Amino acid sequence: MSVKDQFLAKVMNRTATISVVGLGYVGLPLAVEFAKEGFRVIGIDVSADKVSALNAGSSYIPDVAEADVAALVKRGNLRATTDFAALRDAPADAVSICVPTPLRKSRDPDMSYVIAAADEIAKYCHAGLLIVLESTTYPGTTEEIILPRLIHNGFRVGEDVFLAFSPERIDPGNREYGVRNTPKVIGGTTPACGEAAVALYSTAVDTVVPVSSTQAAEMVKLLENTFRAVNIGLVNEMAIICDKIGVDVWEVIRAANSKPFGFMPFYPGPGLGGHCIPIDPLYLSWRMKSFNYNARFIELADQINTSMPLYVVNKVAEALNEASKPVRGSKILVLGAAYKRDVDDVRESPALDVIKLLLDRHAEVTYHDPYVAQISLEHAGGHGTMRSTPYSHEAITAADCVVVVTDHSIFDWNEIADAAQLIVDTRNATAGVKATSARIVKL
Ligand SMILES: NC(=O)c1ccc[n+]([C@@H]2O[C@H](COP(=O)([O-])OP(=O)(O)OC[C@H]3O[C@@H](n4cnc5c(N)ncnc54)[C@H](O)[C@@H]3O)[C@@H](O)[C@H]2O)c1
Repeated sequence: MSVKDQFLAKVMNRTATISVVGLGYVGLPLAVEFAKEGFRVIGIDVSADKVSALNAGSSYIPDVAEADVAALVKRGNLRATTDFAALRDAPADAVSICVPTPLRKSRDPDMSYVIAAADEIAKYCHAGLLIVLESTTYPGTTEEIILPRLIHNGFRVGEDVFLAFSPERIDPGNREYGVRNTPKVIGGTTPACGEAAVALYSTAVDTVVPVSSTQAAEMVKLLENTFRAVNIGLVNEMAIICDKIGVDVWEVIRAANSKPFGFMPFYPGPGLGGHCIPIDPLYLSWRMKSFNYNARFIELADQINTSMPLYVVNKVAEALNEASKPVRGSKILVLGAAYKRDVDDVRESPALDVIKLLLDRHAEVTYHDPYVAQISLEHAGGHGTMRSTPYSHEAITAADCVVVVTDHSIFDWNEIADAAQLIVDTRNATAGVKATSARIVKL
C-alpha cells in the first residue's frame, strides 16, 4: 500500500492523529472539530497558559463552548502541549499550522511565526505526514517557506510527505457559520497532496473546494479579503461624499440594497480592524512590489480606511464645537473597543486609533467595552494602558460626547441616547432610537 493510501485509510477509519499548531481563534475551533469527529487531536502552542487551560478542559475562545472542550479532553480526543516532539512521539499523521501572520511596523509581512513553526515541524517530520498551512499569507509562501524545509529532510513531497494550503475563513462571533458549514478551499503541492488534504478536511467540513495549487488557494483568501477591504474603502469614501452634500449615507445604502441584483451592501465605519481585513491585502501589495507592480486598489482602500479614525475624531471636534466646547478638556466616552460587534478582539481595532488621536488633542478620554477589560495604546503609536470604565447612566450623562465605535448588541441605544448630551455614531447604531434630547451626529 502506498504511503498516501495508508494515510487515506487512517483518515477513513478515524485512527489518524491530527496536530494543530497555534491554538488561537483559528486553531482551537479546528482542533475541536477534528476531535469531535473522533480523531485523536494534539494541539501545540508556545503559550503554556493556553496549553494548560485546554488540558484543564476550559475554552478561552468565545466561539468554542467550554463543555465541548471539557468533554473532548475527558474522552481523550483532545490534549495540548508546548512540545513539538509530540509530532514524532504520538506520532501525528497530519499537522495544520494556524499561527499568526501579522505585519511588521514597516507594514511588511512578519513570517517569523510561520518560519518558527515550520522549523519545528521539519525536525519531527516523518513519512506519511500531511502538513497544511492555514495562516493567511502571500501567494507562494507554502512553496517558499514550508516546502524547502521538507525537501531538505530528503522527503519526496507527494510521495513520502504531503503539503497543502487551506485558507481559514472563520468569522469570529458568527453564530450561523463555523468550521463545519463554511466551505474550505484546499490546494496541494501535487495532486496527491491535494487528495490527502481534501480527504482529511472532508471529515470535519461539510464542503471542500479543491483548487489546483497552493498558490491558487493562497490567492483565494487574498481575493476574498481584498474584496472586503476595497468595498469598505469605497463605502467609507461614499460616507465622506454624502456628508459633504448633506445626504445620509445609511439611507442611501438601505435604498440601494433594494436592488435585487448587482449590488451588495457594505457599511462605513471608524476604520478596519481585526487580524485579517486590514492586513491581508497588504500581503498581496507587498508581494506585487517584487513584480514591480503597484496594487492600486489595495493601496487606495488602505489609505481611505486608515484615515477613518482621524475623520471620526474631526467629526467629534466639529460636534463639540457646535456645542461651544473645545476638544481639550472635554470628557469623551468611547463605546466599544473591540474591532467589531460582539467579539473581545482588539487587534488593529480602530477604537485604539480614535482614543489615541483624542488623547493627542488633550480630551479626557474613557472607554467602555463589556468584552474588553483593558487596552494597550502602544499599537496605535500611543503609550500605556487603559481600563474599561464601568457602564452607568451617570457616566453617559457626564460625557460631553459619547463616541460609538463598536455596536455591541448588548448596548441599549435608547437608554444611551436618553442619558447622553451628544453622540457621534460611527455605526448607525442609534438608527432605531426613539425621540431623544441628545444630539446625534452620524458618520
Ligand atoms: N482570527 C480570525 O478571524 C482569522 C480568520 C481567518 C484567518 N486567520 C488567520 O489565521 C492565522 C491565525 O490567526 P488567529 O486569529 O488564530 O491568531 P491567534 O493569535 O488567535 O492564535 C495564534 C496562536 O499561535 C500561537 N503561536 C505563535 N507562534 C507559535 C509557534 N511558533 N508555534 C506554536 N504556536 C504558536 C500563539 O500562542 C497563539 O495561541 C493568521 O494567519 C490569521 O491571519 C484568522
